[in-house]
Parts: sequence; C-alpha cells; structure tokens
Amino acid sequence: MKKPQLVWDIKPVSYILGRDALRLSRKRLEEFNKRIVLVDENTLQFCLPVFEEQMENLRIDGVISINTNVNNKSIDQTIHVWNELAKLGAERDTLLINLGGGVVTDLGGFAAATFKRGISFVNFPTSLLGMVDAAIGGKTGLDFGGLKNQIGLFTNPICVVIDPIFLKTLDQKQLLSGYAELLKCGLIMDIDLWDSLESQRYDKVEEWDSLIVQSARNKVDIVRHDTFEKGLRKILNFGHTVGHAIESYLLNKGLDITHGEAVAAGMICETYISSKLYEFECKRIKEIITTIDHNFPRFNLKKDDIPALMEFLKHDKKNKGGQYRFSLLRRLGKAVHDIEVEDDLIRESIEFYIDHKDCECEED
Ligand code: GLY
Repeated sequence: MKKPQLVWDIKPVSYILGRDALRLSRKRLEEFNKRIVLVDENTLQFCLPVFEEQMENLRIDGVISINTNVNNKSIDQTIHVWNELAKLGAERDTLLINLGGGVVTDLGGFAAATFKRGISFVNFPTSLLGMVDAAIGGKTGLDFGGLKNQIGLFTNPICVVIDPIFLKTLDQKQLLSGYAELLKCGLIMDIDLWDSLESQRYDKVEEWDSLIVQSARNKVDIVRHDTFEKGLRKILNFGHTVGHAIESYLLNKGLDITHGEAVAAGMICETYISSKLYEFECKRIKEIITTIDHNFPRFNLKKDDIPALMEFLKHDKKNKGGQYRFSLLRRLGKAVHDIEVEDDLIRESIEFYIDHKDCECEED
C-alpha cells in the first residue's frame, strides 16, 4: 500500500488528502474575500463544528443549509441555494465551501458553477462515498424527471479536501455505503487495495486513512486522463448498471436502501457476467462474491421482480443503440468498458444473485 500523500496539485484542482487535510487547506480558503459554507441538516450538526474547530477562527460569512430528506438534488433545492447566495451578497470573489456527502457536493458544485456565471467552490466530502468517489472528478448536477443526474455540468472545484476526521460523524449504514465504492476501486484497478480489503468486514477496518488516500488517488488518476467520460472513466461504472436498476426499483418500492448497497448487489451480478465473457480464475470469482456477501446482506428479490428490473435497466443512460453496454472485469484489478451484453445474460446474472448460486466454473 502506498503511503498516504497529502498535497497533490493537478491543475486546475488541488487535492489535499489524509489526516490534517483540513488544517492544510486553510491557506487556499483565505485567498477569498467571502466564504460561504453549504451543509445539509446532518453536516450542519455533526461536521460544521469539526470544520470550525480545525480552521481555528477562519471567518465564515454565511451558512446555507439544504434539506436532504426531501427532493434530494432537485431544482427547488438549487433555487434555495441561489436565493441564499444572493442574500449573502455572493460575488465572483466568493468561495462556496461544500461540506457534506455526494448530495451537497453535486448540488453545491452545480449551484456555484451557475451562479453569476460561476463562483469558485471547494469540496470537503464528509461521507466515505464522497471521499473516495463523488467529490472527485467534477461531476455536478441534479435529478430531473424522476431520473438521476439528468441536469448538470462537468466543472471542477478549486480544491478537494479529503480528511478522514469526518468518518467519526458517520453511522454504520453510511460507512457501509462508501465501502462498496472502495471494493469497486480495488476490483477495477488496484489489486493491492483489493488484497487489503478482501475477506475483511468494513466494521473491523483500522487503516481507513491509507485506504481512503489510495482509493482517492486512483480516482484522481482516472479523471485526469478522461475528465468527460469518453472512455477510461467509464470503468468506474462497474456494478452500477445493474446496481442503478436495483436502486431505482427498490427505492420506488419505498425501501430505505443506500447507493452502496445497490452497487454491491450490482457488482455480484456484473462479476457473474464478467466470468461468463472472460476467462476468470474460479477462486477469484468466489473471493469477490464472498467478500461482498461478508459485508452486504442480499436484498430479498424474487424472480418475479426481474421483468421490472429489466425495465429500469432500459433507462440506464449508458444504454446505447438498444444494446446494454457494461463496464466489466477482464480479470481482477483490470476493468474494461463499453462491453455489449445480451438481455439473457443480464437476466441470468440477476437469477444468480437471487438464488445465491455458487459459480459453475471448474475448480482451478
Ligand atoms: N462516480 C463515477 C464517476 O465519477 O465517474
């Protein structure tokens, strides 16, 4: 495992990663005349006090709070942020400090980039999922028409500050949600990372700092080579094609599930698909599925749910020209993208998940 690295300037973004990142970022924040913090109801209560303590009397000119219990990333919430920015007299020399998980950094980035043709913003992810994924890479946006991330911009914060100090503010469900993205990162591109996670349980992990820094570095590496998701960046979607369908389907049924839980289910299905398309060591497939199962209980899906899940899959924005295009594992630690997969194999993978089947490959 590489050592946690603290400051990494990749124009136009500075990444400050690891313990003490908050304190180290102070200088960047001081460059602005006005600083406004965007929070949600949780980060207002649990993270803002930590931020203020670490920043030692840095002047804050206003706090805007959004409510993530209703209409998460909606245009109404964005209008609220624009209104508050206007009331607080935000101008071009103002910095919006996004302090929160993916909802705050996605919506805050969008609101900042569109207010008065763009004011600067900085992301301080407070959730594990934000630290290893959502806050990095310049995707900002809103949900629209019942679908996720339909409106938005690729636009970068001046700085992404990832300090594991905020992990202590998370409940187990949120921590587990981010853990799915950590597992994904190992599977698609980093065997060392995978080896440190394999067969662990998320609640027994001790070396969070190095895992977060390693995973965040991997994501930075991908997005700097393919900011606009024309190719390589698509590998980050491993587990997300079937995962998004499961997420939308179960949320529509009123179940309280997280993104990570759905991605974990999606990764089991998509590992199965990968194993059918590529030669894959049987023990590796078992290792992947066992590690996911060790952390994420299976959803109680039935075969009767499959047609509805296939309908949700059709909405997937990665679905091009009538073909499902997946990001899959060529082998452990190496992902490929834009792979066409037939409907029957997708259905089979969901059955594999529902039946808790063992892989059918010959023992190596
Ligand atoms: N969350 C996937 C990406 O940033 O591309």
